[in-house]
Amino acid sequence: MNSYYVTTPIYYVNGKPHLGNTYTTVLADLLTRYHRWLGADSFMLTGTDEHGAKVAETAANAGKSPKEFTDEISAMFRSEWDSLGLQYSRFIRTTEPQHVALVQQILQQVFDSGDIYFGQYGGHYCFGCERFLTEKELVDGKCPDHQTVPTWTEEQNYFFKMTKYRDQLIAHIEQNPDFIRPTRYRNEVLSILRDSLEDLCISRPKSKLTWGITLPFDDNFVCYVWFDALINYLTGIDFPTGGDFKRFWDNSEHLIAKDIVKPHGVYWPTMLMAAGIPLFKHLTVHGYWNTPSGKMSKSLGNVVHPKEVVAEYGLDALRYYFFREMSFGLDGVFSMETLHLRYNADLANNLGNLVSRSLAMAIKYRDGEVPTVMHHGELENELQNQIVSTTEEFKRLMANREIHRALESIWGLIDSVNVYIDRTKPWILAKDTAKSAELDSSLYHQLESIRIIASLISPFMPTTAEKILTSLGFAKPEEQLLETKIKFGGLPHGVTVVTSETLFPRKEGKKDMEQPETATPEEKVKVQKAPVAEASGVLSYDEFMKTQLRVGEIVSAEAVAKSEKLLKLTVNLGAADPTRQIVAGIAKSYTPESLIGRRVVVVANLKPAKLMGIESRGMILAASDETGKLELINPGTEIAPGGEVR
Ligand code: ME8
Ligand code: MG
Repeated sequence: MNSYYVTTPIYYVNGKPHLGNTYTTVLADLLTRYHRWLGADSFMLTGTDEHGAKVAETAANAGKSPKEFTDEISAMFRSEWDSLGLQYSRFIRTTEPQHVALVQQILQQVFDSGDIYFGQYGGHYCFGCERFLTEKELVDGKCPDHQTVPTWTEEQNYFFKMTKYRDQLIAHIEQNPDFIRPTRYRNEVLSILRDSLEDLCISRPKSKLTWGITLPFDDNFVCYVWFDALINYLTGIDFPTGGDFKRFWDNSEHLIAKDIVKPHGVYWPTMLMAAGIPLFKHLTVHGYWNTPSGKMSKSLGNVVHPKEVVAEYGLDALRYYFFREMSFGLDGVFSMETLHLRYNADLANNLGNLVSRSLAMAIKYRDGEVPTVMHHGELENELQNQIVSTTEEFKRLMANREIHRALESIWGLIDSVNVYIDRTKPWILAKDTAKSAELDSSLYHQLESIRIIASLISPFMPTTAEKILTSLGFAKPEEQLLETKIKFGGLPHGVTVVTSETLFPRKEGKKDMEQPETATPEEKVKVQKAPVAEASGVLSYDEFMKTQLRVGEIVSAEAVAKSEKLLKLTVNLGAADPTRQIVAGIAKSYTPESLIGRRVVVVANLKPAKLMGIESRGMILAASDETGKLELINPGTEIAPGGEVR
């Protein structure tokens, strides 16, 4: 069996768990589960970084000894990850004796081989980063990440000959394009190596700082916190002699955010080279979560607490949002509004509704018994092909760590199954006994699709996946969570499916009706579909009267490239406004040709929005039901285009 090893940064215990470090840790959990799904023996490491000046100072401010303080905060991290059900294999602390011994062993080895020397150095030390910043890194004399003026520090210290390994590391990065990914961070590391590399100061005199690991070759000094911390990735798998090191190191992946690219992309590989240890396989870098008002910070009062999100929307919804909302590698904006929208649109409507309607139909028409398939038409072929192609696409995107797009591909399949149901129309087949084989086939294809979808989403939403599989009659749903199980036809005939609890009950409240700039076209289309049904609370007469509804006549209609739902329309709203451009999510119900000349009702005073990059000025009203069918509201022909609807 192949193996997979993933690590998170070990977090400083000067702060508590928060949304940012929760994201990286959940990401590691996702990748662990995903590689298990692929069949790999997977190991996830996380933990806490406990030495150094910053932690020592925070402990002192709290009136505690560093040991007492770090014990407390480290336990807090651990219990946070436990409460989120994260499947870490080991939780490491840099104060553990095993780690201290390994750091000393590696220091001694590098010292003996002549790569550590004693010297004098002055530099700008940022305590937030726990490292010296080069002149080039300062912005207006400050650390750009922490907005603080670094401390000028001049000391006699030990140095690691990092520059000696510069060319070797550049060559490695050039020969291994996915060593550091995405590319922007690979380029960042290459430019540091080419433009501003210096040797690394790896000690602090004990006269200044005692909270650290003593240098084995000079006990007047402690080890620099990054040199200490990075080695945790080896301690965690029992380097040098343990079986886990042999088993996992070749397939290692470090996850970090963009703030600590330099220590991981430059210090760490050169340290490994100096110690004669093969390099890790991947360094994967993600962006930062910000809020709509900018950086998340306690003083701005805009901090989002993961636990509160979980309490309101559930753990799987948070996980889904984390991975769907952030374009991997770029910064993301975390907002409760978009979370609410995604919850209702993607989870309650698309996924939740698909599962509940399929189960409900199987129960209504066949008492829940999974039918045998005797009918196989073109729609069935199409759906089966799409399952195969989606699975391939999903795996390709996951392998490239295009995680948000991998989720999108699954949601594309969910859409297709919903369309399959609309096209086969089981509710009509059920009225005709001659169509019994077709009904069986439709029901089977629906159920089998949701089984496969459950397996695909399982690394992202493990609880939801298990609930779906349990409803499908699997006594041991965990056995289904493997890639090898997703071949079409895996749902046995004759077993009985049962209704599931509503997976994602719709949430009212938040601003369903508003369309923040960050909403995706799909979401906007959702809102567009059934504006009245989705509104919450009561509308005053005055509020309603602000809506300008007008009779329109569709003049032209064309498909929107790369969109299954959208059509670009030109609508005549009367002599004053004869060519209004509107993008509408009706492509699954209407062909462009069928729309020309058709009369519609338009919301005329809606703030313009962009859908798939195309400007849309207004909305078209349509009725819809839970099957996803749409019917445009027809104002008749008595009133000319531009006429008011009241
Ligand atoms: O740097 N968005 O620890 P640290 C996304 N101890 N991720 C975020 C984030 C945000 N807004 N804020 C923090 C250290 N993170 C060292 C690491 S490793 C050998 C030593 C996450 O507590 C992200 O993973 O400052 C980032 O890289 C990490 O927390 C920094 O954690
Ligand atoms: Mg930090």
